Amino acid sequence: MIRPAHPAGPPPREAPIEVPVPSLVVLVGPAGSGKSTLAARLFAADEVLSSDALRAAIGGDAANQRATRPAFAVLHREVRRRLAGGRLVVVDATNVELTARRALVRLAADAGLAATAIVLALRATEVHARNLGRSGRVVPADVVDRHLAAMARLGHTPEAIATSLRNEGFAAAAVVTTPPELDALAIARSRSTHHPLSAVSDAARG
Ligand code: CTP
Ligand code: MG
Repeated sequence: MIRPAHPAGPPPREAPIEVPVPSLVVLVGPAGSGKSTLAARLFAADEVLSSDALRAAIGGDAANQRATRPAFAVLHREVRRRLAGGRLVVVDATNVELTARRALVRLAADAGLAATAIVLALRATEVHARNLGRSGRVVPADVVDRHLAAMARLGHTPEAIATSLRNEGFAAAAVVTTPPELDALAIARSRSTHHPLSAVSDAARG
């Protein structure tokens, strides 16, 4: 895909986001912000659970909103099952609503694992442009605006957004606000210190 070079120059080199394995990674961002693209770049396919993929599997179409409720029921069940199995789980859904994030934070806590948020807080014009520029499913603009309004409730600076998310129970939150930052995002996997299974194997090693 050809994109114009960003006027601000080369992407900033931020430290990679530390991702414990196992743990839960929650992507947060409006439709069209680039969550699925990011997930495909940073994580293995079998680590990612996508609400759209589940909606398509259940309702025959990623845009079938009637499949939303059963899709999230399956999503939550699958998150729980995978975390219990000691896997890294990445949730690719908008997660702009507090209730959606709260349910996921609870699943991580129930498994004794950390939840990390990766937030795509791009400018509204950028998100709309990306959504319209998609080859596949374009989400109605008013839906994108609703997502942007929900995101605004988290705060208006990266610091404020990260603070809100830590207050919700996320162990860490990485917030990007520009396309170059998004494209430069990297992760560093580390061994989870929280997981009961690693505690057991630590004890066994003495
Ligand atoms: N895009 C881009 N550069 C990136 C990532 C995405 O230009 N680094 C553009 C692409 O045109 C892509 C669009 O943004 O088609 C939307 O990206 P996508 O990953 O599909 O967004 P999602 O956040 O996954 O949208 P949804 O919630 O609707 O699934
Ligand atoms: Mg997507």
